[in-house]
Amino acid sequence: MSEYKNLLVTQDGFVATVQLNRPKALNALNLELMTELVDCLEARDQDVDVRAIVLTGSEKAFAAGADIKEMADATAIEMLTRDQFTRWDRIRKLKKPLIAAVSGFALGGGCELMMHCDIIIASETARIGQPEILIGVMPGAGGTQRLTRAVGKALAMEMVLTGRHITAEEALKAGLVNRVVPQEFYLEEAQRIAREIAEQPPVAVRLAKEAILKSFDTTIETGLEYERKNFYLLFASHDMREGMNAFIEKRKAEWKGK
Ligand code: CAA
Repeated sequence: MSEYKNLLVTQDGFVATVQLNRPKALNALNLELMTELVDCLEARDQDVDVRAIVLTGSEKAFAAGADIKEMADATAIEMLTRDQFTRWDRIRKLKKPLIAAVSGFALGGGCELMMHCDIIIASETARIGQPEILIGVMPGAGGTQRLTRAVGKALAMEMVLTGRHITAEEALKAGLVNRVVPQEFYLEEAQRIAREIAEQPPVAVRLAKEAILKSFDTTIETGLEYERKNFYLLFASHDMREGMNAFIEKRKAEWKGK
């Protein structure tokens, strides 16, 4: 019996796979699911036996957005006190790499959740969009900011102001996803990349991820300083000595994660 009502969690080696599992609502992100998801991701983030996390949905839907039925009657003050988006900040703060495996609909909050991930693998069936405008609102979990940074102003404006879904191929061309694969392979491909990352020295992976994310909210000067400090910090790690010695001795490095 899973400890989560709306998630299925598996682990293979150092890779955990978290699957959204609310099929009747196309994985609409209600408060219960989001609470479970953030708790689950944070638990994996703390677990030394997990080095990368794959986040996926079903073939039909990665996630069809925030739960419209849960919000339809809410007042502005209820939304404010519910403060559902602070949970999303906790996803942004995860230290371990998060790889999205996306098939079918990734809409509204689903697209925003996808964009919280560090690497995105899309099935050729993926349909991605921010259709909130069609129901009288706008993106609220980072869509206007992350989509614009990912695809540029022109496409972000079009998607957010018309609600149009884009195809996986369009998303690839726009730089929103890393790659597009046939539907039967999207999860496998995401897990393959997760395994590849899990084979790298974990402290360097963590500090490199942090430095890349830093580039989104700082000046180049501060970002470069941050990068440099993380680079120097790695010279205090066992894995840095091991990695460089293994290269010189022409053998495979053995990472300890410290
Ligand atoms: N919230 C609640 N329920 C949803 C939902 C959502 N976002 N998306 C789908 N569902 C439910 C449907 O109500 C339906 O339930 P019932 O069987 O009980 O009627 C079930 O999932 C299946 O959906 P459809 O019958 O609509 O399936 P479809 O294949 O005909 O269409 C779809 C699929 C195009 C994704 C369509 O469901 C849709 O447009 N969903 C809404 C997408 C959307 O507007 N998302 C943005 C939400 S707002 C948001 O996310 C704010 C934010 O920034 C955080």
